[in-house]
Amino acid sequence: MNRPGTKTIETDRLILRRFRLEDAEYMYHNWACDPEVTRFLTWPPHKNTEVSKMVLQEWIPQYEDGSYFSWAVELKEISQPIGSIAVVKLNEEVGSADIGYCISRKYWGQGLMPEALKAVMDYLFDEVGLNRVAACHDVNNPKSGRVMEKAGMKLEGILRSAGKNNQGICDEVWHSMIRSDREED
Ligand SMILES: CC(C)(COP(=O)(O)OP(=O)(O)OC[C@H]1O[C@@H](n2cnc3c(N)ncnc32)[C@H](O)[C@@H]1OP(=O)(O)O)[C@@H](O)C(=O)NCCC(=O)NCCS
Repeated sequence: MNRPGTKTIETDRLILRRFRLEDAEYMYHNWACDPEVTRFLTWPPHKNTEVSKMVLQEWIPQYEDGSYFSWAVELKEISQPIGSIAVVKLNEEVGSADIGYCISRKYWGQGLMPEALKAVMDYLFDEVGLNRVAACHDVNNPKSGRVMEKAGMKLEGILRSAGKNNQGICDEVWHSMIRSDREED
């Protein structure tokens, strides 16, 4: 596995880049304050910008670590971060990463997160050299499953009562792409 860390990735409509402390206001207002965004996530909505700032203060020093991958999803059109996408679990021995993501409700339904996920998967396979990229969602949050499908992941199955989020214990639906899937295309 290579350890390039979180490098900037550009897609048609997005710039995926490292978070900066100045993003706290956008982070709070664009997505982290919204209980609809955090409904199926593991963290509570931020109460104010200070909370977003504290979160960023915890994340930013980790960019020093080449195996830390956490991108702000910046929409080119408005030059603001509107969400985030990150490796939430990395198993170096297996060459496998699990991804998590969220985006401002205002921008749902435009295919932006599939665009980001596709680009992050390419990065993790091509630059980092991983063999597997996976993600899971609460069975009651199928729109996240659509993101995984649109980005080219395959359905693996359901792990019953395997996760916990703001709704409580949940069944997890898992999708993944492995390196050999890409060679088939
Ligand atoms: C899940 C999420 C990332 C989807 O991102 P997105 O950029 O809107 O993705 P898409 O545009 O491809 O839409 C995906 C699905 O969301 C649903 N959707 C689209 N617009 C919607 C809207 N305005 N309101 C509710 N759901 C909507 C549709 O089912 C869509 O699938 P379809 O294209 O087959 O109809 C986004 O809804 C989000 O951030 N949700 C909150 C955080 C979250 O649940 N993260 C995933 C945790 S596993």
